[in-house]
Parts: sequence; C-alpha cells; structure tokens
Amino acid sequence: VIASRTDPRWAAQAAAGIDGVLEDHAHCERKAAATALSLVAAYPERERLVRAMSALALEEIAHFRAVHERLCRRGRALGRDPGDPYAQSLRRLVRADEPERLTDRLLVAGLIESRSCERLGLLAAALADPELAAFYASLARVEAGHAELFVSLAREYADPGCVDARLAELAAAEAEIAAGLPLEPRIH
Ligand SMILES: [Fe+2]
Ligand SMILES: [Fe+2]
Repeated sequence: VIASRTDPRWAAQAAAGIDGVLEDHAHCERKAAATALSLVAAYPERERLVRAMSALALEEIAHFRAVHERLCRRGRALGRDPGDPYAQSLRRLVRADEPERLTDRLLVAGLIESRSCERLGLLAAALADPELAAFYASLARVEAGHAELFVSLAREYADPGCVDARLAELAAAEAEIAAGLPLEPRIH
C-alpha cells in the first residue's frame, strides 16, 4: 500500500536501539487496538466493519501483550507514550465530512499498518537474536493482512475507483511524511 521504501539506514539503527523500539512498538500496538475500537464507536451500524474492527482490536491487544512481555523480560518498564508525529501528521489529512471521512480514516489506518509491516520486516532481517527476529517476521506478516483489510473495507463502503484514487494521494503524502521525520530507533 505504501509508495516508498524506508531509508536503508533505519534497520541497523533500530536493531541497535531495540529496547527503545520495543517500547515504542508496544505503544503502536496499543494505539492500533484503540483505533479499531474508535472505528466501532464511530460506525456502529456497519456490520462488517464492527466485526472486523472488534476482531482486530483483540489481535492488536495480543500483540501489545506480547511486546510488553518482552520488555518486562528484558528488565524494562513501559514508559509513557511520547506521542507519534508520524500518525498525527497522517490524521490531519482525514477529510471532515462523511462519507469521505470514513474512507480516509480507513486508508490512513491501512497506510500505517503497511508502513509498520515494512519496518517490522526490515527489523526482523537486521536483528542478530534469531528468536526476536522470528517474532518480528511473524508480526510483519500479520500487519500486511491488516493493511489489506483496511483497504478492502474502504472499497466496500465507497466507490472503489474513488477509494483507489484517494489511496494514491494519501500514499504519496505518507511517503513525504515518513521521509521528513528523523531516523530514530522507533517504528515510525
Ligand atoms: Fe499489531
Ligand atoms: Fe496491525
């Protein structure tokens, strides 16, 4: 879904700062669950959306628990979420009025999943610890499915041609936002 590749220097930096990445990643999973539930709250009458998003919230909470468990085992505590300028910038692109708002919320969520999928896969390839690498490789596969889920929901609830055109616009904006942020040992 994303329209650019991450700077190749990111993976080595993230692998070297894996404790910080785990902490940021735990918050990403928690926020993914929260986003899914906020879509349920906003569109309770959309049956497929409610089914898909409530199932997704469970899955993301399971990811949060798995990442948090790893942090604890490494003797680290989860700190407060310092905020995510990447996701905040993307959310500003969501149009205010329906039905465009639903399309944009789903596509932005799909782009975040898609970028996360790319980065988790890059991290898996850069990690020396085979067990942790396998954990990240398995999560990357799951996030790819989430990106597709969001795009397919967007296509279901709006004209698919309009959705694809908007996705191309938002993907170009996402690439610019991702490229404009400093390289840091965090997921975005
Ligand atoms: Fe996840
Ligand atoms: Fe996800």
